[in-house]
Amino acid sequence: MISKTSLAWGTLVIALAPAVGWAADAPAAVDGQAIFKQICAACHQPGGEGLPGLAPPLAGTLAPLLAHDDGRRYMAQVLVHGLSGRIESKGQEFNLAMPPQSALSDAELAAAAGYVARELNQSEGRGPSADEVAAARGAALSHKQLREWRARLLKP
Ligand code: HEC
Repeated sequence: MISKTSLAWGTLVIALAPAVGWAADAPAAVDGQAIFKQICAACHQPGGEGLPGLAPPLAGTLAPLLAHDDGRRYMAQVLVHGLSGRIESKGQEFNLAMPPQSALSDAELAAAAGYVARELNQSEGRGPSADEVAAARGAALSHKQLREWRARLLKP
């Protein structure tokens, strides 16, 4: 027998579910700028200008990369698996280590990357999509290979 009380609870639970995010079928929009400011800006600085000895700039440096599929793959790999070793950006050398940002979801990383692409690089290209981030999670490339990829894509 289903009691009146349990029916009432059932109705209440169904009524509250969307409010607490249960059974939410559409994922809430993720704010890439907020993620950038909260997480990435700690190293890359609020305007993406970078800081020698801490992190390279992300503003005005990535458009040639993001114009290519491989450049978006590169960025997805860097986000999920981090990057270490010597790179050159805006004539400056960086030989540091970015820790993997894999604690963020695919959608959050894609949103942050989209913000970097659109707002900090006025890129015609786009950042990696959530699906491209997910693909990078499943198949890590070595940092050496990523640096070679980067050098090839940025070659004038
Ligand atoms: C703890 C510091 C730190 C945080 C947090 C961080 N990064 Fe990095 N990032 C670095 C460093 C250091 C490098 C360069 C590594 C090297 O020298 O090989 C880098 C490199 C990169 C590159 C490659 C740049 C290029 O010119 O090829 C991208 C893209 C990038 N980060 C994006 C992000 C985004 C987006 C976030 C936030 C989700 C983020 N980073 C968070 C430190 C950080």
